[in-house]
Amino acid sequence: MSVIENSKLSIIGAGSVGTSLAYAALIRESARHIALYDIKKSKVDAEVLDLAHGTQFTGSSDIVGGDDIDVVAGSHVVVITAGANQAPGQTRLELAGTNARILESLMPQLVERAPEAVFILVTNPCDVLTVVAQQVSGLPAERVFASGTVLDTSRLRWKLAQRAGVSTASVHAHIVGEHGDTEFPLWSSATIGPVPLLEWNGGQTFEVDELESIARDTRDAAYAVIEGKGVTNYAIGLSGARIVEAVLNDEHAVMPVSTVLSGFHGIDGVALSVPSIVDAGGAHPLAETRFSTLEEERLQASAEALRTSLAALGR
Ligand code: 2OP
Repeated sequence: MSVIENSKLSIIGAGSVGTSLAYAALIRESARHIALYDIKKSKVDAEVLDLAHGTQFTGSSDIVGGDDIDVVAGSHVVVITAGANQAPGQTRLELAGTNARILESLMPQLVERAPEAVFILVTNPCDVLTVVAQQVSGLPAERVFASGTVLDTSRLRWKLAQRAGVSTASVHAHIVGEHGDTEFPLWSSATIGPVPLLEWNGGQTFEVDELESIARDTRDAAYAVIEGKGVTNYAIGLSGARIVEAVLNDEHAVMPVSTVLSGFHGIDGVALSVPSIVDAGGAHPLAETRFSTLEEERLQASAEALRTSLAALGR
């Protein structure tokens, strides 16, 4: 339960991601009050009813919602999931134009109703949209960030844990960069318990080929899921709820979220995920994160890809 009394989480968009996030937040009791907003009245009303009908079994969180944007008033955290979805084979960056326009109209309305909130972008391409949201709102960079590679990091930890035969919670490894095709793992600082991953010898060491294949599978995981079921929703819902908790509980948890960087490894004006401290004030990149020479090159390449996408949007 949150340290903020009467904590309020609003979720924008009642599609598969927004509703999965609401469901995860209810079950985890991420916030005392949850509001779900969507422009499609019949859809959002039905989703809210369906979720509310289960609240006997979910602890003290409650849920309201509708197509009136005033439902977000007074939120401590607003998570934005609204927008067009990735079609099979489509990259997250190809969605940029459509979803940027949606955000340009949404952000001022949200900030007006929840002026103190921390805003978390889940809509893709989330890194590009974080820059749009931050510029449109004029809020400090730490208060507008994307879920970024928190989900990819969870995917990576799951794979490594399975392979090493340890629990996911015992794997300490991060995917950083764009939430998309140029993301990459920080192998040089990854550990299993206290053991550096590159020195792990629980029966079988990790060879370079295997690490590359794990990184590739992690990067392409969303494509694989979308190919089979059209969307990804449960894992992003859980990731989003977990990030919300870090804010509402003022946890100072280290998570790879995406903020507009200023000076991080020389990167300015681009949002991408790096290990960051997440607390009630938002997300604060950990400047002292170490990158190997190759990782540094990959970070700069990821920033460059995002710069190109932003330029295509005229930003
Ligand atoms: C995901 O990684 C599509 O960004 C979404 O599952």
